[in-house]
Amino acid sequence: MPNSSPTVDDRLTLGRRILDLADDLAHWSESTGALTCTFFSDAHRAVARQLRDWFAAAGLASEIDPIGNVVGRMPGAHPGARTLILGSHYDTVRNAGKYDGRFGILCALVVLESLRGARLPFAVELIGFSEEEGVRFATPYLGSRAVVGRLDAAMMNVRDRSGHRLGDVIAAAGHDPSQLPSVARRPEDIIAYLEVHIEQGPVLLNDNVPVGIVTAIAGGVRYTLAIEGEAGHAGTVPMDARHDALLAAAEIALLVERRARLEPGLLGTVGRFEVPEGAINVIPRRCELSLDVRAQDDDVLTQALADILAESQAIAGRRGVRLGARELLRKKAVPCAPHLQQLFAASIEKANIPVKRLASGAGHDAATFDGLTDIGMLFVRCGNGGISHSPLETVTAEDAGIAAQILRDTLMRMGT
Ligand code: GLV
Ligand code: MN
Ligand code: MN
Repeated sequence: MPNSSPTVDDRLTLGRRILDLADDLAHWSESTGALTCTFFSDAHRAVARQLRDWFAAAGLASEIDPIGNVVGRMPGAHPGARTLILGSHYDTVRNAGKYDGRFGILCALVVLESLRGARLPFAVELIGFSEEEGVRFATPYLGSRAVVGRLDAAMMNVRDRSGHRLGDVIAAAGHDPSQLPSVARRPEDIIAYLEVHIEQGPVLLNDNVPVGIVTAIAGGVRYTLAIEGEAGHAGTVPMDARHDALLAAAEIALLVERRARLEPGLLGTVGRFEVPEGAINVIPRRCELSLDVRAQDDDVLTQALADILAESQAIAGRRGVRLGARELLRKKAVPCAPHLQQLFAASIEKANIPVKRLASGAGHDAATFDGLTDIGMLFVRCGNGGISHSPLETVTAEDAGIAAQILRDTLMRMGT
């Protein structure tokens, strides 16, 4: 069994390696001058192949599964040992930072590299999930949903904005969508799911601690709202005779902000706003907007959503436009297992670092594992005010190394 207490130098070496690997992955992008890597683009598939090769070089039996997850397996000390899953996602938002998702995959990878040759009392699977952000198909967690067996066949008919069916995109990449059910793990085979992720916020930075233990992952809902008004000539239709879809959408976006501000811990975002037939001299007939509402308390979330949808219908009624609302995702708040929080805490204490606990406002693949197995999450401090979903995301090599040390120690503690 390797020594579980790396020196500060070892730690920095691990941390630098994580950041170097993240720099390497960021070379593949589908947009020039920015990092964008969405489901099954050429850049995305290149990243998958690179991860698979790195996993193999670390001594893991590695493959890319039919939904594009990169899976690396390290056997346990005994045949038939149950499996600990480590993971995070390698897809990105548009114009992303280098660490959201990828940090967790790479941190686990360098830890498994450093454990090469060791046999833990359980098997380990490292999974780089292909899709978490929901950018291409407006439906997130495709990778982890397949692993927990919650990606039903109807999902294959979802289309991206160019009209491509999910099932066809998977087939065109050389995978067989009919094989997706084989990706699902059986709960009885799994010990737990652990994920390391950048915090994506300022709490650890402000408290001056490098890592934090996640207590729960906030719940959230996502909708597409589509407004149908009436097109008309910008120069002839009087202002009081218009049914402008864009203006109704604008009012709804402001309503979302107003409602979310009413309660601490409630967050409402309109991140996408589109006028498909927009032209400078035409009154907008159609406008589509996205809606993302989150809260740590499920009742607060349910009430806020109900208020927003009801008030949006009232706005549509006043403006003489039609509003359609399509739910894309609904996730309850998910607690992290107390015994896994305690394991992380013991490793953090051993490293002489203050133990900080915090809830996650961001969604994570970990939440998808709710119901399949126990979940543990470790956050790592971000720099730059904690900014994320932005190229300004930063993490230091020191903090990256500490995260790797804590994860490594926790894995070894799980074996005792
Ligand atoms: C994932 O990045 C999320 O939207 O929380
Ligand atoms: Mn993200
Ligand atoms: Mn993420």
